[in-house]
Amino acid sequence: MTADAVQRQRIAVLPGDGIGVDVTVEAIKVLEAAAARWQLPLDLVVLNWNADSYLETGETLPEGALEEFQSDYSAILIGAYGDPRVPDMKHAADILLGIRFGLDLYINFRPIRLYDARLCPLAGKSKQDIDFVVFRENTEGAYVGIGGQFKRGTMDEVAIQESIYTRKGTERIVRAAFEYADREGRRRVCMADKSNVMRHGHELWQRVFWSVAEEYPDIEASHLFVDALTMQMIRKPEIFEVIVTDNLFGDIITDLGAALQGGLGIAASANLHPGRTSMFEPVHGSAPKYAGSNRANPMAAVLSASLMLHDLGHHEAGHSLEAAVERAIGTGATTADLGGKLTTTEVGDTLAECVADATTAHARR
Ligand code: IPM
Ligand code: MN
Repeated sequence: MTADAVQRQRIAVLPGDGIGVDVTVEAIKVLEAAAARWQLPLDLVVLNWNADSYLETGETLPEGALEEFQSDYSAILIGAYGDPRVPDMKHAADILLGIRFGLDLYINFRPIRLYDARLCPLAGKSKQDIDFVVFRENTEGAYVGIGGQFKRGTMDEVAIQESIYTRKGTERIVRAAFEYADREGRRRVCMADKSNVMRHGHELWQRVFWSVAEEYPDIEASHLFVDALTMQMIRKPEIFEVIVTDNLFGDIITDLGAALQGGLGIAASANLHPGRTSMFEPVHGSAPKYAGSNRANPMAAVLSASLMLHDLGHHEAGHSLEAAVERAIGTGATTADLGGKLTTTEVGDTLAECVADATTAHARR
């Protein structure tokens, strides 16, 4: 390599199914605008592994794909998975959960940020009131798929679904939440569990949480049972800065969080394992009903791409994507879910233009 050769960053782009395809086209458009403006060394490689290819070949995640992601790619950007022709969600589970578990992406990082007070379903809440992040454990809990069925289809049938919690798995997500708070100047970390009922698994969470909290004396640690937490997310969302919780509760409360910020159309996520190839995806699903209708909101995909740029070290570019979204929302340049009149393509064009415009300020709020 010559002295001034730039290390290229190869990105695997998996549009997936339904509106995943529509929103990914726009995310690519906006990423290309950012890459051109900041000369980012990105190589986007589109991999069309989806319901169509699964139905045609029977293959979901090709053999060796995970190893290849780890060795040859810097990040993975996903659209959405799910198709009514695959009712058991086999390909979605193999690809989405396969990447989360296979690459051991133990942090599901989901920011909840209100970009415009008009989008909040709660009365009297400002942008400053809703600005927190959820650290959802991403490799254990109810998602491990351990269990079985007995006497299936009879009146005596039994179903067992286990949740797994390990010290290592609990400790690393709790530590990630505190590290983030420390690094980003957040003052509070709240852990949500159901240790009053789940006296084995979540008692482990209790012990681990309070012991890790001792290492961060400057950060205020607190605990809420998850049912109480959901109530407080609605009554006083301003008390939250960082929430850490298990896989299933994290799944549920981040949909609630998405509603606080204006809906799934703008909820982004990052599946991380520091130092490894991470995966970025909107929180929303594939909404097959709206596929190809040019109505889906591409902002969640663009905000996920923004998280990806930060992870790749391109902070200015990452901020510019988020600033473009905030600006578009402020001027009403949105799809119908956010009250606007624009199509998916038009929102993508607006965001790409804003990112490309060197006169636009991209300050972080
Ligand atoms: C999410 C989704 C997934 C999950 C589904 C599609 C398996 O709801 O990313 O929040 O439950 O994690
Ligand atoms: Mn979910």
